[in-house]
Amino acid sequence: MCGIVGYVGDKESAPILVSGLKKLEYRGYDSAGVAVMNRNVLNVVRATGKLKNLETRVQTDVPQGTIGIGHTRWATHGRPSDENAHPHTYGGVAVVHNGIIENHLALKEELRSKGHHFSSETDSEVFAHLISDELKSGLDLPAAVRAAIAQVKGTYALAVVTTSDPNRIVCTKDSSPMVLGLGQGQNFVASDVPALLEHTRDFVYMEEGDLAVITASNVDIYGRTGQKVNRPTRRIDWTPMMAEKGGHKHFMHKEIMEQPRAVADTLRGRMLLSEGDVHFEGWNLSPEKVRALTKITILACGTSWHSGIAGKAMIESLARLPVEVELASEFRYRDPIVEPSHLAIAISQSGETADTLAAFKEAKARGATALALCNVIGSAMTREADITILTNAGPEIGVASTKAFTTQLVGLYLLAVKLGRMRGTLTVKAAQEHLTALTEIPKMIEDVLKCEASVKRVAREFMNAQDFLFLGRGPMHPVALEGALKLKEISYIHAEGYAGGEMKHGPIALIDEKMPVVVIAPKQPHVAYEKIIGNIEEVRARGGKVIAIIDEDDAHVASLADHVIRIPAASALLAPVVATIPLQLLAYHVADLRGNDVDQPRNLAKSVTVE
Ligand code: F6R
Repeated sequence: MCGIVGYVGDKESAPILVSGLKKLEYRGYDSAGVAVMNRNVLNVVRATGKLKNLETRVQTDVPQGTIGIGHTRWATHGRPSDENAHPHTYGGVAVVHNGIIENHLALKEELRSKGHHFSSETDSEVFAHLISDELKSGLDLPAAVRAAIAQVKGTYALAVVTTSDPNRIVCTKDSSPMVLGLGQGQNFVASDVPALLEHTRDFVYMEEGDLAVITASNVDIYGRTGQKVNRPTRRIDWTPMMAEKGGHKHFMHKEIMEQPRAVADTLRGRMLLSEGDVHFEGWNLSPEKVRALTKITILACGTSWHSGIAGKAMIESLARLPVEVELASEFRYRDPIVEPSHLAIAISQSGETADTLAAFKEAKARGATALALCNVIGSAMTREADITILTNAGPEIGVASTKAFTTQLVGLYLLAVKLGRMRGTLTVKAAQEHLTALTEIPKMIEDVLKCEASVKRVAREFMNAQDFLFLGRGPMHPVALEGALKLKEISYIHAEGYAGGEMKHGPIALIDEKMPVVVIAPKQPHVAYEKIIGNIEEVRARGGKVIAIIDEDDAHVASLADHVIRIPAASALLAPVVATIPLQLLAYHVADLRGNDVDQPRNLAKSVTVE
């Protein structure tokens, strides 16, 4: 997501800022900007789109000054545009911000009543206004920043400069990353280490609530309560490539591990627990329209299609509305029945998948309301949509989709609760229970990630298998499909995902002592636990090797299976989020042990923009 770079020293800052931002491109962004200060003159240059647009502007009219801040923006509040790009300025203050201010509407209202005018649609601009007011009231810059963040609810990594105090950068963070880079006669701040590796290897990781005051010759850090603190300096020996992966061997591994954070970001600011409701920014469907809906059609490809199948169960169960899940590539070439009372939901990480986009346009042209569940704001699907729900997973770089899938699942669950409330199929109390269950998911993912060592042992044992079968019933059926897809696309081992009930109708013929069968069998009522045990017995009777994904306390299946991987028990409809994680890790480790190019598997592209 957004990237921040700041510099203070004796060199011209603009080129340093732009080159640092380039190293943060992997984070994903849709606009960029720098603010460079020369005594009491602030020069701001911003540009929508790729960094080369900013670079061209900076090169044509180089902003002079040896102190400055820069930013790459991944739009959340307000479309990608020059005005919405950071830095935001007000009253001689320039800020760059990574994170979300949840109470920005109330703060803007209050500031407007005091005569402030806003020049962007962003939440972040609020910081420039708040800090400027605090400076006018007589505070110095660090105190003004503290006073501003005290008024804000949300997450932030923030860097600030002001013409009234032109030799220092003040930065602070809570829940968004920020590191300080230490140099000789120059110092730096950035969202991530790679931005600064060409200048320094000495880094200080800021902790939650820290505030740093940076000059060319000094860095002081203060803790949340204002006391001066010492944070250790770490020497980083990473290569730039490794650093971009945050020390992980592959982006896919990093992205699997990021899922607790990614899912929490999808939920953040959307759950209205006390009201038993869900808030989606930009939601424009009236209660009458929602009540009049007769059908939902989900359009997607690949992994996103799998999340659609899980979403069908969620929406049908909570909102009692029929849902069809269509492969976008099939839907677009049929003569589908679409009516104005239908809601078409495109699910897509990239928002650019050609088949999904074409199917979405087709459904819209035939009168359906168009909702995009998407990870990339400003992408083609979000531009086509009447409503967009962002998954907020952050950039997904590994070709095999991981955190996009789990964030889509929780996005669909939020949508199911919202529709259920609007259609009157969920009481406030029932919705509160569902939302409470959602709040527990990030921690459950953290817990299930601890199974990595045992998954790796299983991967080692079966890394040379020719085929794999994945079985699941009810909400675990899409998990089985996803487990098989993950494995085949990166390990190149043939794998099939099946609904358990279908096994007798064909795939059972494949089972022999060489066939590993992954059975996803948490004890959920919908999962037809007894029946999946029947499947396990059938596999065993034919000599197949059973790898079972089971609840922590399940001794029975454990006694039947060759290997077990235990997961915490989530509610039936949310269990797919948790149960998918070991399967991602299994695919990852099998592929890695086979020496494959995990992040860029053969023949596959991250964003399939052709048919
Ligand atoms: C599988 C995978 C693909 C994508 C599919 C749709 O790991 O990544 O199957 O899910 O190409 O892509 P999006 O979600 O970008 O529309």
